[in-house]
Amino acid sequence: MASNATDTSPAPTKPIVLVGLMGAGKSTIGRRLAGALGISFIDSDQEIVEAAGCSISDIFEMYGEAIFRDLEQRVLLRLLAGGPCVLATGGGAFVNPTIRDTIREKAISVWLKADLEVLLERVSRRDTRPLLKSGDKSAILSKLIDDRYPLYAGADIVIDSNAGLHETVVERIVSALAQKVDHG
Ligand code: S3P
Repeated sequence: MASNATDTSPAPTKPIVLVGLMGAGKSTIGRRLAGALGISFIDSDQEIVEAAGCSISDIFEMYGEAIFRDLEQRVLLRLLAGGPCVLATGGGAFVNPTIRDTIREKAISVWLKADLEVLLERVSRRDTRPLLKSGDKSAILSKLIDDRYPLYAGADIVIDSNAGLHETVVERIVSALAQKVDHG
């Protein structure tokens, strides 16, 4: 597969939505995937921050998680009504049934699946995630794996994001997307 996938793949006609737990690589991989597909990249957490005018941590701290989830839904429904793009979502987005159903209807979902050890190593690099501040990161992530992996498993495409260079993961996604277009 060529590193510039636009040479070999048709441009997507719908949003490509990356789902998965914190540390799965949604933003990093998403940015590169968008470059490879020749479409724009949008990070829904970043859009929430811009809409709220403060950080995700501040939203959780000042208004609580329920308000964050409400904002998350509003921002994602707006973004999903737009044209093709690569859209990285926060880890809780695909858990919300309204968001999940809208993604199913309007987009192609890609679950970046990673093991606990890999996620733990990646989330430990930054201490900005409110859900991980309340206790042992390993125990919290492990519980989120139990709760959310059965839901993420409903994504259209599942990609192992444990190992390999970012470029390799991007190439795996591009080829899975091409198969999806060819075979429905
Ligand atoms: C969350 C994940 C975060 C962010 C918020 C809640 C979650 O995004 O949306 O802190 O519920 O898993 P990332 O998955 O991009 O870290």
